[in-house]
Amino acid sequence: MALWGGRFSGESSVLFKQFNDSLPVDYRLVEQDIRGSVAWAAALVSVGVLTENEGLALKAALAELQLEVAQAPEIILRSGAEDIHSFVEQALIAKVGDLGKKLHTGRSRNDQVATDLKLWCKDKGMVLSALVTEACQALVALAQREQTSVMPGYTHLQRAQPVTFAHWALAYVEMLERDASRLTDAMTRLNTCPLGSGALAGTAYAIDRHALAASLAFAAPTLNSLDGVSDRDHVVELCATASISMMHLSRMAEDLIFFNSGEAGFIELADEVTSGSSLMPQKKNPDALELIRGKTGRVYGALTGILTTMKALPLAYNKDMQEDKEGLFDVMDTWQLCLEMTVLVLSGLKVKPQQTLAAAQQGYANATELADYLVAKGIPFRQAHHIVGEVVLQAIANNQPIEAMSLAQLQQFAVQIEDDVYQVLTIESCLNKRDVLGGTAPARVAAAIAQKQALMTSAD
Ligand code: ARG
Repeated sequence: MALWGGRFSGESSVLFKQFNDSLPVDYRLVEQDIRGSVAWAAALVSVGVLTENEGLALKAALAELQLEVAQAPEIILRSGAEDIHSFVEQALIAKVGDLGKKLHTGRSRNDQVATDLKLWCKDKGMVLSALVTEACQALVALAQREQTSVMPGYTHLQRAQPVTFAHWALAYVEMLERDASRLTDAMTRLNTCPLGSGALAGTAYAIDRHALAASLAFAAPTLNSLDGVSDRDHVVELCATASISMMHLSRMAEDLIFFNSGEAGFIELADEVTSGSSLMPQKKNPDALELIRGKTGRVYGALTGILTTMKALPLAYNKDMQEDKEGLFDVMDTWQLCLEMTVLVLSGLKVKPQQTLAAAQQGYANATELADYLVAKGIPFRQAHHIVGEVVLQAIANNQPIEAMSLAQLQQFAVQIEDDVYQVLTIESCLNKRDVLGGTAPARVAAAIAQKQALMTSAD
């Protein structure tokens, strides 16, 4: 039976019931709904609506229900209830009879669902926060393993300047750290309790909402009942945070898919995260990474979905908002899965240092060094850039690297070039020169790794 039958003389159509019911999605809020109900029962005791004994009986019945749904979650969907709030109330009434019917005094499903969802966001947010940190740790461990592997750094997907593989890995640590900080921000902002806002105007019972919020481990109560029941900013913020993080994961996935390609051949992915082709026996496909890249789309889709659902909604609660959960649940599950998969991929990833080095040595990645060398010999940079362009053109025509040209050949382009140029053109010199904060010089990268490790141990 629906919670609201009294005013109606006719039955809902089967199609309407199916359309309107949210249990197939919001069953996931059962634990939060029970927790919220325990807190609300205590609040009703505090204002004398329930006696101490009634409060205790409700608390015990709710605890029993929690155990039952943990053991047999299928009873929720089998109930055919309209939504999770109706399920909990019906189950309670089945246990304690009329007392169960008192629990909804002064409460609305509007403040109830807003509270449940925020509790869920807090729970899931903690899981995600730990996972983002785990992914950072996996990247730092990879950086630690691959400090001496040199590879080409790219711009426009053209070999630009050599970098270490560790430097590449640490770039993604920076991105994930920003994701972690965005998540922390969102979690701080959503940490307010709507319970006690009633349907829209505030509950008619003199509940101490500070105490109520604290009993549910919220930092504070919400301060306006209209906003309290209809605010879904946290859903938008979590979807946005996940979208940005998925954007980072998709970039990492794309880099690795390219590194894994036959053309680059920089890395070997573990068998446990790759699959074969049903037709071509030689193939080892980077499916895990392609799925991370691909799943980014549905996360962006959910962000657009919730923003569009909320656009121009009048105050306060509207049933449109029931559409908030499906996307959010999928976003958070997908983000979680992709982070877990990222950790697995990174921990089994092997770099092929000879291949990465060979690629770094091709493509004239040391051309900038020659320009800087000429600058040190007194040639203005713009002119030096032009001269080196000509050198590279000649080297391409000869099909050889710059450093394979003889001194006499090089001096045809600039008489200032001397024998010391060859040292400058080495990969080691290219790397060591980038000895600036944030640069790829091995000493800087080692310091960055140490700093990340220290931060991570102090956070433990
Ligand atoms: N299932 C609803 C939701 O998720 C609960 C709130 C229902 N409120 C109402 N006034 N019908 O939004």
